[in-house]
Amino acid sequence: MKTKICSIEENNIDDNIIAEAGSIIKGGGLVAFPTETVYGLGADALNEKASHKIYEAKGRPSDNPLIVHIASVESLHEITSKAPDKALKLADRFWPGPLTMIFEKNGRVPLGTTGGLNTVAVRMPSNPISLRLIEASGRFVAAPSANTSGRPSPTTAEHVIEDLSGKIDMILDGGMVNIGVESTIVDMTVNPAMILRPGAITKEMLEEAIGEVRVDSTIIKSSDNIVPKAPGMKYRHYAPRAALTIVEGTSQEVISRINKFAAEQISFDKKVGIIATDESRDKYPLGNVKCIGSRENEETIAKHLYQVLREFDEEKVDVIYSESFDATGIGAAIMNRLLKAAGHHILRI
Ligand code: TXA
Ligand code: MG
Repeated sequence: MKTKICSIEENNIDDNIIAEAGSIIKGGGLVAFPTETVYGLGADALNEKASHKIYEAKGRPSDNPLIVHIASVESLHEITSKAPDKALKLADRFWPGPLTMIFEKNGRVPLGTTGGLNTVAVRMPSNPISLRLIEASGRFVAAPSANTSGRPSPTTAEHVIEDLSGKIDMILDGGMVNIGVESTIVDMTVNPAMILRPGAITKEMLEEAIGEVRVDSTIIKSSDNIVPKAPGMKYRHYAPRAALTIVEGTSQEVISRINKFAAEQISFDKKVGIIATDESRDKYPLGNVKCIGSRENEETIAKHLYQVLREFDEEKVDVIYSESFDATGIGAAIMNRLLKAAGHHILRI
């Protein structure tokens, strides 16, 4: 299949391109599009055949449910059987935006979209291209991240092209996304509500709106014997091809340990990648050092994380060492993704 790639500007959206993309989704096809978090791969959520194509293009296990994207809160009532008051409060506060909520689904949503579950994940994205596409399709849009299953999520259209070119109908290139890590997922079918995946909407922000919120214990800890409640979180996601080790400790200790590891690996002829920050990049004399962002502004770290992992893939490094980050605020999402990329391989010194 030939994939059509169209540039589109968030502030000056071309109506013709949106109409074409919308009719592809209406007709059961696949369109990759930018959201504020990562690029999504969209299809008609109520058309089981269309959802099935998503699984095929991504090579995604069929028990891993899709998030259904909507463009208005009213749509929520058309696909769920129960929307608790707390969920409506969160929708009011954080939609459109990087928050996904889990609800009891109604009979319209096929099990092929929800990975066989009776619940459905719903999100209203804030990126205007996403919203316009959903509206133009006249459908609810099922959309996982637009990467090959197991690879880091795409934060640019180039990443989508790398993984899915030739396998989908269209890619809308809206430039680099804003946030860079996927939405926060909150299960609203339990009380108190439970965070299944951390993202830019933090626990503190949710609690300020609805009171106590719990966190699925598998999010930060190693998940060898406990099964995460979001099926997708059990896979070794977001993973670069090289072995990644996170080194945690005081800044001085971490830098000197990473330098020692790098020297050792280089002496064995291995290609070494190092994930550093603005604050530390000059302190690593060896290896391929990439600056992921600034500790002063952790949003920059979230934004560049997947891109840096993909660059190391391209450069075919053998091992990667990364500094560690505080798991508070957006840091919870950064550490969750980094730990998964590392297969939970963390060295605490
Ligand atoms: O930011 C995002 O959420 C992006 C953009 C495209 O919107 N989408 C995204 O989708 O990250 P995906 O498919 O890559 O991740 C969805 C996660 C998976 O871990 C999946 O298991 C979980 O959501 N999930 C979906 N439906 C669920 C449900 N009914 N119950 C529990 N977990 C669910
Ligand atoms: Mg994904």
